[in-house]
Amino acid sequence: MMTDKQTTKKRRRMSLKWKWALGTGTGVFVIFTIVLGLLFSSFTSVLLRQERRRTTDAINVVTQRLNDNVKDLTSDDVEPVLRPRENPYLPHNPSKPDQQHNLYNDAIIRTLANDNLAVSVYDRSGSEIFASRVDPQPFESVGKRQLKLSHLNGHVVYVGRAPIYQHGTKRVVGYVQVTNQLNGYWRTYQRTGSILIVLLLIGLLAISVFGYILASYFLRPISDISATITKASEDPQSSTRVPESRRNDELSDLSELLNRMLDQMQRYIDQQQQFVGDVSHELRTPVAIIQGHMELLNRWGKDDPEVLNESIQASLAETKRMKSLVQEMLDLSRAEQVEIDFRNQVTDIKMVVNQVFNNFKMIHPDFTFSLDDDLRKPTYVSMFRDHLEQVLIILMDNAVKYSQTRKEVHVSLSEDGRNAQVSVQDFGEGIAPENMDRVFNRFYRVDKARSREKGGNGLGLSIAKRLVEGYNGHVSVESSLGHGSIFQISLHILNDQERHHLEELQATQEPSKPLDETLKDSNLLE
Ligand SMILES: Nc1ncnc2c1ncn2[C@@H]1O[C@H](COP(=O)(O)OP(=O)(O)O)[C@@H](O)[C@H]1O
Ligand SMILES: [Mg+2]
Repeated sequence: MMTDKQTTKKRRRMSLKWKWALGTGTGVFVIFTIVLGLLFSSFTSVLLRQERRRTTDAINVVTQRLNDNVKDLTSDDVEPVLRPRENPYLPHNPSKPDQQHNLYNDAIIRTLANDNLAVSVYDRSGSEIFASRVDPQPFESVGKRQLKLSHLNGHVVYVGRAPIYQHGTKRVVGYVQVTNQLNGYWRTYQRTGSILIVLLLIGLLAISVFGYILASYFLRPISDISATITKASEDPQSSTRVPESRRNDELSDLSELLNRMLDQMQRYIDQQQQFVGDVSHELRTPVAIIQGHMELLNRWGKDDPEVLNESIQASLAETKRMKSLVQEMLDLSRAEQVEIDFRNQVTDIKMVVNQVFNNFKMIHPDFTFSLDDDLRKPTYVSMFRDHLEQVLIILMDNAVKYSQTRKEVHVSLSEDGRNAQVSVQDFGEGIAPENMDRVFNRFYRVDKARSREKGGNGLGLSIAKRLVEGYNGHVSVESSLGHGSIFQISLHILNDQERHHLEELQATQEPSKPLDETLKDSNLLE
């Protein structure tokens, strides 16, 4: 029930694509609106200024035509001047040149013919003596020229008023009033406004579609990535990877990272399977041998002391092998986490090397051992003592095991100020160059049958490598086939300060784990 709700909730969520498209759409829309608004307002203010000039021009034309009158204006004075069409060729005033007169006439005609302009002339007392068309504004007498926007039936109009003076004096002979209805202006205003709104809507649509397409393009790798993750989580073994893209951005980095992680996971799984396969293969042989002997005994052996003895001995040998194999596998898995379980350990490498060396000398009297110890005083490394011992035993055990003809092992101990090196050299069969890296792999033996004969499981060097690297050390090998090998480990030397610090830490700390008891009864330490 709960999950049902959750999934519907999930489905209803908004995809990144839509968010992106809407986000950019809104942003661009706002900017677009502001820009268009500014354009619109400056465009209309230019238009309005034009209308304003037209109104002033009309007032100018009328006042200049009528200011020649000496007495107060009457309709008889005004009519012939403002309706020149009735007598267009007669110069009204001989004192003015014809050309100028005609110019005035043209201006008057144009002004009075303008649909938007209502030009009215009033006498001194305020009665209308001329009107080009019905003036919707009532008369107001004014002391000086004035021009203002005023409201008329819900319309904004320009009203200009001016007194008409007698030429050259300050005597008022009448008034002129021009009302500009601004019809053209409002028409342009509306038309431009609607064009802009349509543009805005088209722009909004275009930007949303563009944003959506762009977002789909940019985010396409995400769907590839999530498809890959889904497949990988359904089947961790699947070889599906995020398809490589030619783009080079954060998402392609992410895809690459994911692919690398999946590869690594695959490798781990493969290794794991390989390990399980190897282990069962290794265990199958001793189990089969023991089973064979038991069946033999079961059928005929019970009464035959010779068969009985042989079978018991063989079974015991195989059991021992199995025990050592199980022990080594345990050591291997423990070696993988030494850095967690055995921190803060301090060991004198000089002492441990000397001890192991002496033990080997004792156990293998047929071998010639030589030790070249360059360390003058105890030298401390951060490694659990038993682990260092185990590593040395693995290396020396191999040196002894793989030297048939020249039974000589040379151990040397040196330091270069930063690191201490132990090398174990033998003069035995050596390792071919192509196998040099593989000897550190689990269960790898150059000669499986012979190594088995000698009780080797192929785990020794992998345990040693893991242990040393777990303590940030380094293992290396040099070898020449038929001439012998040198295995070397190198570990960081602790200075006095580091050593005291670690010893203090260790003293205050609970032992992180009971000492590895099983390590002690490892076949290698026997
Ligand atoms: N000193 C050596 N000289 C020659 N070959 C060696 C030496 N040490 C290791 N090897 C080779 O590396 C393989 C792996 O070694 P190791 O991991 O110790 O396994 P094991 O000794 O149990 O076989 C050995 O089987 C052997 O073939
Ligand atoms: Mg070995």
